[in-house]
Parts: sequence; structure tokens; C-alpha cells
Amino acid sequence: MQIFSITSGKGGVGKTSLICNMALQFGRLGRRVLLIDADMGLANVDIMMGFKPESNLSDLFGGRAALSDLLVEARPGVTVLPAASGVQEMTHLEDGLMMQLMGALDALDADFDVVLVDTGAGIGQNVLRFNAAARRVLVVSTPEPTSMTDAYATIKVLSGSHGVKRFRLVVNQVESRKQSLRVYRHITTVADQYLDDVAIEYAGFVVSDPNVSKAVIERKLLLERFPDSPASGCIRDLVGDLMHDVEESAPSGNMQFFWKRLLQPARA
Ligand SMILES: Nc1ncnc2c1ncn2[C@@H]1O[C@H](COP(=O)(O)OP(=O)(O)O)[C@@H](O)[C@H]1O
Ligand SMILES: [Mg+2]
Repeated sequence: MQIFSITSGKGGVGKTSLICNMALQFGRLGRRVLLIDADMGLANVDIMMGFKPESNLSDLFGGRAALSDLLVEARPGVTVLPAASGVQEMTHLEDGLMMQLMGALDALDADFDVVLVDTGAGIGQNVLRFNAAARRVLVVSTPEPTSMTDAYATIKVLSGSHGVKRFRLVVNQVESRKQSLRVYRHITTVADQYLDDVAIEYAGFVVSDPNVSKAVIERKLLLERFPDSPASGCIRDLVGDLMHDVEESAPSGNMQFFWKRLLQPARA
């Protein structure tokens, strides 16, 4: 199982649109996907995928629901763990509840090949922790200067105080691959200058495409509604490339590792 988180410095760069379509594509390639909506501020995987969750993470952490009650099979092979807006602290779980959660997660480890975590934007504690717990951190930036600056700031904080040293950059809303490479170069040049031991790899790009917003408005996924659209092709390519990471991952144990890292007290 491989665990990817997706984050950005700035909101509105396309994380949720990307991750939902990536989940669909991994599912189509025969992988069993768990999509965790961990954006506690602006949870909207459910909206983009067109379903309404009956219970969410806050019910789990409040002890009102079991993990299995929360999971929604949103598409064939794609299971979603919906988020709860307003769950602020993941770190204050009672021991009993924590044990229960770990037990339930043990069972999930064998059920999924790919875990995708939508963590939201910025450097809030929950966002940082979810990214620090994931095995592969995808940072999304657009070519806008503020987006690039904020992507760099996120990388800086995650590498400085959360021990994440390896990042994958996805450049969204570009005109061309060439433009995405310029964004990549810009961010890596600054990172090389100011950050120690940080590796940023180029993961891919998605072109700016009006059908992305159209699909969101219709509450459909781009890959289903506009499969021949340019952005759909980019997302399929991106997932194809990330498949290497899925194939080289450990067969089991990653899920427990993820939640342990997530829920352990923050390091100083
Ligand atoms: N490649 C793209 N081309 C055009 N619009 C896009 C693209 N990616 C995202 N968008 C639009 O940007 C807006 C924000 O996307 P969203 O996925 O909600 O971002 P985030 O999760 O980062 O806040 C949405 O209206 C979406 O349709
Ligand atoms: Mg989002």
C-alpha cells in the first residue's frame, strides 16, 4: 500500500479536483483506493463526488460511529473516508478510542492499495500532521507567484519542523508542460538556496481547462464527464507515473504507520 497526501500553500489551486479524479483513475487501473478527506476546513470530496455522508470523522473521534460506518464506496474500487469541518485537534483522542481506531485500521491495511489524503492548504497543525504522516507528499502549485511562494513556504515548514525531506510537485492550471517546468524550476531554485537536504521531484502537470470547473459545478468527475478533455489526459498521465510509487511500496503496515504518526504527540 502506498499513501499519498496532497497539499498546497494556497487554497483553490485544484487539490480536491485533482485528488478525486486521481482516485477514480487509480480505481480504473484496478487499484483499491481509500480517499481520506482530511481537509477539516473546506471538506468537499463528498460534494465533488456527488454523495452525502451520513457520518464523518468527528463522529468517529467523538465515539459515535465506528470506522466501518463512515466509509462510503463512492465509485467502484474507490472508498471515501469523509471529513468533518471543524474537527480541530486530532491529538487529543482518549486512549481507548485510539486503540479502537488502530484496531479498525489494522483490518483496512489489507483492503487498499492506494491511500490518497486531501489535506487542505496552509500550515495549520492538522494539515502539517497529515502530510508528515504520509509516505509521499504531493505539493500542488499553480504558476501564480503567490501560489509558488506559498508552496515553498509549506515545503519549508514541513521540512524544517516535521521531518519531511522529499516532495513531489504537481503544477496545475498551466498552459503547457513547458510552463509547468518553469514553475518547478522556480520553486526548486529557491529551495536549493535556502533549505538543506530537501528533494523536490517533478510529478507532473495539469493544463488549465474550463471543463474542470464545469465538472465541479455538475458534481461529476472530470474523467467521467469530459474524458477527452486535455486536463483528463494530464491526470491519467500523472496517475500513470505515480503508479511506480504504488508498485514499490511495502505490502502492509503502512496504514498503521500512518495513523501512529498522525496521532502521536507533536515533536518539538
Ligand atoms: N486544471 C484546471 N483548470 C481549470 N480550473 C481548475 C483546474 N484545476 C482546478 N480548477 C478550478 O479551481 C477551483 C478550485 O479547485 P479545488 O479543487 O477546489 O481547489 P483546492 O482543493 O486546492 O482548494 C475549482 O473551481 C476548480 O474547478
Ligand atoms: Mg479542496
